Amino acid sequence: MIRSVLISPIRRYFRTKRLFRAAKEMARAKGKSLMVIGDPCSGNYFQFMSSMFPNCEHGEVTVDLNGCEDCTRMDINDMVAWERFEDGSFVVMETGVLGFSKDVEAVLGQIGRVSGGDFLSAGGNRGLLWVKYLYKTYSKDLVYSMDPFDSRKDEYYSGIKLGQKGSFRLKFYAQSD
Ligand SMILES: C[S@@+](CC[C@H](N)C(=O)[O-])C[C@H]1O[C@@H](n2cnc3c(N)ncnc32)[C@H](O)[C@@H]1O
Repeated sequence: MIRSVLISPIRRYFRTKRLFRAAKEMARAKGKSLMVIGDPCSGNYFQFMSSMFPNCEHGEVTVDLNGCEDCTRMDINDMVAWERFEDGSFVVMETGVLGFSKDVEAVLGQIGRVSGGDFLSAGGNRGLLWVKYLYKTYSKDLVYSMDPFDSRKDEYYSGIKLGQKGSFRLKFYAQSD
């Protein structure tokens, strides 16, 4: 229980902060825009925590289905909506949204395309109770808990399907074609 509601979220919080700093610096060094997937002002299990202690900042573009007024409100599963973003123009920092993917490979393909390969993600909560039961109390649309990913060293994007046994592993490509 403590791992699910305290240790795993705290680890994820500091991992998000660290990877966000790296993504911001990478964007600056490469002269690219920063895309954050996941509204920094919301989305935590305890809403007030997100407002008081945000784990990252908005990017030049921030994508979230229910985001604040500074966000681009977009469903990551809408492949047509992704077309507004140019190939290779962003460093992408993802924070707890890809678990809502309907087709992870398709969403990852769009991230590969718009990022040109520069993609960081802090992954999801891995507390045992969370991945077995508690995720249902957060959202009925949450399907996966992803592993952290850092394109500077990782080749494969992976995660688990919540409430089920087994895991998936996908090669991350810089372009979808
Ligand atoms: C765990 S929060 C992520 C951001 C949060 N600040 C964090 O701590 O990581 C999950 C977010 O995913 C967004 N979301 C859920 N389904 C989505 C979808 N299909 N497309 C885009 N965003 C979605 C929710 O609005 C929510 O803000």
